Amino acid sequence: MVLLHSLLFGLLAALLISASPSPRDLLGEVIDALGIGLVTHIDVFITLDTLTDNLVSINFEAQNPLLFELTIDSVSTTAGLNGTVYTSFEHVFSKPVVVPPLGQANSGNITNVLLTQGVTASLAIIPFGVLDLQNVNVNVRAGSIFGIGGVPLIITGLHQTSVPTAYALDLTD
Ligand SMILES: *[C@@H]1O[C@H](CO)[C@@H](O)[C@H](O)[C@H]1NC(C)=O
Ligand SMILES: *[C@@H]1O[C@H](CO)[C@@H](O)[C@H](O)[C@H]1NC(C)=O
Repeated sequence: MVLLHSLLFGLLAALLISASPSPRDLLGEVIDALGIGLVTHIDVFITLDTLTDNLVSINFEAQNPLLFELTIDSVSTTAGLNGTVYTSFEHVFSKPVVVPPLGQANSGNITNVLLTQGVTASLAIIPFGVLDLQNVNVNVRAGSIFGIGGVPLIITGLHQTSVPTAYALDLTD
């Protein structure tokens, strides 16, 4: 863990002094290679409206393996199972998600997430209780202090398989 952190810290330092955009993608590759998932859990809320509009709400638990704070400003991702994409969305957080050093934070609910395969096909993947994140891009600020400031970084192309996912029917209306 100490080695891992030194490595990431070194990489981050290298990124910060680098003016070229391509090394930024490297951070995503390193995070993938080291198998540090940024997302530890996903909640999906299905409502009666979902049956007609194919829209769900989701939230996710993000973890920060680093010794400095990460603030997530926006995320775009595709998610699914077995190579099939079941949803694809982009979200800009009106209240950025502040993930403390070595800590976790919940994204809060993201509404109007479209089930691209439709609700019927999507119901079939519920029993598996997992989702694969096929292509995650996040805009973060590294080393922010209680969500303020920090160094903007774009982390692209993250992959994670079998992220534990809970589905809940929300019939309150
Ligand atoms: C995933 O793919 C494998 C092999 O093609 C298949 O046996 C399995 O049923 C698939 N699972 C889902 C959830 O689609
Ligand atoms: C998200 O929405 C669900 C269903 O409406 C609700 O039960 C839950 O408390 C909300 N979670 C957050 C983090 O706001």
